[in-house]
Amino acid sequence: MIGVKILGAGKCAPENIATNEDFAKIVDTNDEWITTRTGIKKRHIANGEPTWFLGARAAKAAVENAGIKPDEIGLIIATTITGDYSTPSVSCIIQREIGAKGSMAIDVNCACSGFVYGFDMAKRYLQTDCGLKYALVVSSEELSKITDYTDRSTCVLFGDGAAAVVLERCDDTIYAAYLGADGTGAQYLLAKSYESHTPFSNGGVKIEDDMPKRENHCLYQDGKEVYKFATKTLPLACQKTCEILGMTPGDLNCIVPHQANKRIIETAAKNLSLPIDRFFLNLEEYGNTSSASIPIALCDAIDTGAIKRGDKVCLVGFGAGLTYGSVIFEY
Ligand code: UT7
Repeated sequence: MIGVKILGAGKCAPENIATNEDFAKIVDTNDEWITTRTGIKKRHIANGEPTWFLGARAAKAAVENAGIKPDEIGLIIATTITGDYSTPSVSCIIQREIGAKGSMAIDVNCACSGFVYGFDMAKRYLQTDCGLKYALVVSSEELSKITDYTDRSTCVLFGDGAAAVVLERCDDTIYAAYLGADGTGAQYLLAKSYESHTPFSNGGVKIEDDMPKRENHCLYQDGKEVYKFATKTLPLACQKTCEILGMTPGDLNCIVPHQANKRIIETAAKNLSLPIDRFFLNLEEYGNTSSASIPIALCDAIDTGAIKRGDKVCLVGFGAGLTYGSVIFEY
C-alpha cells in the first residue's frame, strides 16, 4: 500500500497566554465552568504576530526537524480560516519566508478539519509520480481575529497557534482516509466575510441562504448542534477509516482528535470502547485552534513520546462546513 511518512514536525504558539481567570475578568464566567464544560485552562493569543508568521515559524521547525533543504519541498498546503489577506495566500507567504523556491502553494479552507484534508491531499499528490519529493502541510490559525470577546459562550473556547509536518511518499505502509462534509449544517458555525461595495449594484436581488444574520465578522456557533455533530462524526470517521484497513479502533496506538472539548473526546472514546488514554489531549494548554489543533497535538504527542515510530496513528477532525475527516497512517 502506498502511504506517507512524517519526516519532521514543528509548531509555534504565541508566548502571550490568556487563562480562564483572565476571561473571568472580561465576561461572566469562571474557571470551574470552563474547566468542567470544556477541559480548557489557557490559550495562546497572538500579540501582533500575523497568521503567516506563526505558520512560517512552525514550517521552519518542521523542515529543520526533517533534515531537508527548503527548496526540496515541491508542495506547500497551508490550512487556515484566519489568513492575513484574501490574497496572497498564507501558503505563498510561508513559501517566501522559508525559501521553498518554486514549490506549489495552496491554501485550504476547511475549518477544524483542515489539517486532515491537507494531509490527505498531500499524500495523494506524493503518490502520483509527478516528481514531487517532499510536501509540507502547515496549519496556522489566529482565532483571536474572529472571536467575539463579549460572547462568553464562544470566546473562552478559542486560541492561536500553528504546526507543520514534512511528508514523504512511503511504499509498503498502511494508509486510509475517510473525509466528508454536511453542508446542511453550514448555519451552525460561521464567520461572515466581505460584503459587496460595488457602485453597480443597488442590492436589489435578495437571495436567502438560511444563515443567521451577523453584524460583524466574528465567529458564531450553535454549540449544541456542533456538539451533536462532533460526538457523532468523530467516532464514525475513526471507525470507518479503520474498516478500510480491516482494523478495529483497538488496533490504533494513538488517536489525535481535534482539540475542541474534552467531553466530546470522552464521549467518542466511550462510543469506540477505547480507554481515554488512547487519545492524545492538549486542549488544556491551547484551547481550540481550529485547523492547527490536530497538528499542534501531533507535535506534542511526538515530542512527549506518546507517538513512537511504527505506531498506527489516527488523526480525526470535525468543524465548520460542517466538515469531518480522519486519516490513519504509520508514524
Ligand atoms: O471547532 C469548532 C467546534 N466547536 C465545538 O466543538 C463546540 C461544540 N460545543 C461545545 O463544546 C459546547 O456546546 C459548549 C462548550 C460550547 C457549551 O457547553 P454546553 O454544556 O452545551 O453549555 P450550554 O450552551 O448548554 O450552556 C449552559 C449554560 C447556559 O446558561 P443557562 O441558560 O443554563 O442559564 C449558558 O448561558 O452555561 C452558560 N454559559 C456559561 N457560563 C459560564 C455558556 N458559556 C458560559 C461560560 N461561563 N463561558
